[in-house]
Amino acid sequence: MKYTVKELLDLGEDGKFAVPAFNIYNFGSLMGIRKAALETGAPVIFQVYTRLFDTGTAKFLMPAILEVVNDLKTPAAIHLDHGRGVPEVLRAVRYGTTGVMIDASTLPFEENVAATKAVVDIAKEVGISVEGEIGHVGAASNGDECGNYTEVDMASEFVRQTGVDAIAVMVGTAHGKYKKAPVLAIDRIAGIHAATKAHLVLHGGSGVPEDQIRAAVQAGIRKVNYATDVCCAFIEGYKKLDPYSEPFDVLLSHPADDVKEYAVSRIRLLGADRYGK
Ligand code: 13P
Ligand code: ZN
Repeated sequence: MKYTVKELLDLGEDGKFAVPAFNIYNFGSLMGIRKAALETGAPVIFQVYTRLFDTGTAKFLMPAILEVVNDLKTPAAIHLDHGRGVPEVLRAVRYGTTGVMIDASTLPFEENVAATKAVVDIAKEVGISVEGEIGHVGAASNGDECGNYTEVDMASEFVRQTGVDAIAVMVGTAHGKYKKAPVLAIDRIAGIHAATKAHLVLHGGSGVPEDQIRAAVQAGIRKVNYATDVCCAFIEGYKKLDPYSEPFDVLLSHPADDVKEYAVSRIRLLGADRYGK
């Protein structure tokens, strides 16, 4: 059942859980996440990097995602991840997205506000949700999880000036494989959660220790992004197979099931499987 991203995160706020957002790269990862939603009954977000729109893949993948979302009996949303600007947002809108991220987090505050506000104005007209980013979540390969934390006051001012539904916050995570397990700024999450009504999003979810994730959700995180470990689940699963043992479609259903197992474990960790129970 198609929901906006905000509607899903509102469910998380009511039930004190976080909604997982899984990056979808291909048909196999889509099938894996679909099965996880069917198995758990949890609300899930299917999200697509801007890159897939650049290469043309999204033109064919987005209709498949939309079909899955409409077919599910449980709440699900489609989201553009790390959108760069208005043209990228419009492309995602064209293919039926129910939420977009505008990531202008590397720009100075006023420019980030202006870029984000421009997207909020469009989103209001078409009835979809917007996630902005304040503070910058960088790359684990650069050790970026150690700096540029989101300030509480700046976050609430950003939400006030832009009217975004959700904000990605820098609270100790980074994208990709961590060299050392990250330690999250839980008090800061609680502070931002208390200071603003916008939902809080944790990027760089892959590899964050489970106790840290539980504490982050308790402190007010309502969306957690998983990308790297979706790929790892698929690739590690594929590596165990004899590539010529079965027809290709049957063969590729096994790593898709490994993606499902991974997604089910994250859904349970975030408490999203409590939805409707
Ligand atoms: P990871 O690849 O580290 O899981 O990060 C996901 C993410 O934040 C996507 O926007
Ligand atoms: Zn991200």
